[in-house]
Amino acid sequence: MRWTALVLSVLIALFPLSHASAQQTTLKDAYQGCFLVGAALNPAQFSGADTQEAALVKTQFNTISPENVLKWEVVHPRPGDYDFSLADKYVEFGQQNHMFIIGHTLVWHAQTPKWVFEDKDGKPVSRDALLERMRDHISKVVGRYKGRINGWDVVNEALNEDGTLRQSPWRKIIGDDYIEKAFRFAHEADPAAQLYYNDYSLENEAKRKGALELVKQLLAKGVPITGVGLQGHFDMNWPSSEQIDATVNEFGKLGVKVMITELDVDVLPAATPSQTAEVSLHVASDPKLNPYPNGLPEAVQKELATRYADLFGAYAKHCGLVTRVTFWGVTDKNSWKNNWPVRGRTNYPLLFNRKAQPKPAFYAVISAAPKKSP
Ligand code: G3I
Repeated sequence: MRWTALVLSVLIALFPLSHASAQQTTLKDAYQGCFLVGAALNPAQFSGADTQEAALVKTQFNTISPENVLKWEVVHPRPGDYDFSLADKYVEFGQQNHMFIIGHTLVWHAQTPKWVFEDKDGKPVSRDALLERMRDHISKVVGRYKGRINGWDVVNEALNEDGTLRQSPWRKIIGDDYIEKAFRFAHEADPAAQLYYNDYSLENEAKRKGALELVKQLLAKGVPITGVGLQGHFDMNWPSSEQIDATVNEFGKLGVKVMITELDVDVLPAATPSQTAEVSLHVASDPKLNPYPNGLPEAVQKELATRYADLFGAYAKHCGLVTRVTFWGVTDKNSWKNNWPVRGRTNYPLLFNRKAQPKPAFYAVISAAPKKSP
């Protein structure tokens, strides 16, 4: 048993009421003065249709991200046809609750319709035409929420696992400078918004090196990048606290803000050997990959609590440099991890269970917060 697990079990045994008092404390209050704490929301939560989860979000979080409603295919499904109906509701929810509102995401290889990259004959568009489409999209979307969306994931997942640039349609058609162009267009549309590069598995050295080099080059060219989003799609063992520490420190040294933008911890057996969050990956279902369809055994529940305590311990060492920690979802019920990379599994990656009740991991995160002086 790791030392944090030991300390947690002793504390819970000695102070059975500590859960009740921890319940008074919320995530956002526990980490006030250290970093913002947030969650990615779905329409049922920000429209209030799911009253229980909407209330939970208001109580626990001071920053929100849109899980899907600001992606290109949702806001701009056809040429010249923008649909902001869901995105407007998302932003209103954030404003009404005085939250730091994130926009996700402007330039990505996934969830972007094929027409974006094609001319009317289905052939690849020219560099200039694609740059014009990118500029139009960014100026319309960022411009609409100018002064209301506070930070944007401008470019999402542009790197391969070995740290080289991914050969996405953006890069194929425009060239490597598509990244810098996206940041410049976003800055043009809202000069006050924070602008981020966002990716997963940057805790792994090769990919991290590639991202560090990318950010360094952008800064050297005067590109308006303010921060790096470390997505944080983790499992029970990877990454280590040392990898997290090194990653936060190395980006911090470049002078950019660091944020954890999509945190969750997969408790199920790994379906692939690689540490990835690549959305196109699909693995066939197999009962062996879904061992807890009727509930998480207590021992695993405790392990998850320890894992979360360790993660927040590692982030809290960097209060101020880490400016935000956002979970990718609110409760286990709607997590994307139930359907990726294997469809129809029962996963338990977040702090609130399927009934929106706090799990032991919630109390562990509250307990890991830096103690405030009275
Ligand atoms: O909107 C359709 C709906 O009309 C249809 O009935 C339903 C049937 O499956 O699908 C709906 O679309 C799904 C969409 O989520 C909204 O629920 C897509 O199939 C599904 O692929 C999509 O998955 C999202 C995925 O990104 C791809 O966009 C996940 O919810 C979302 O959590 C995930 O988030 C990404 C981040 O944006 C970037 N980093 C990795 C992260 C996890 O993959």
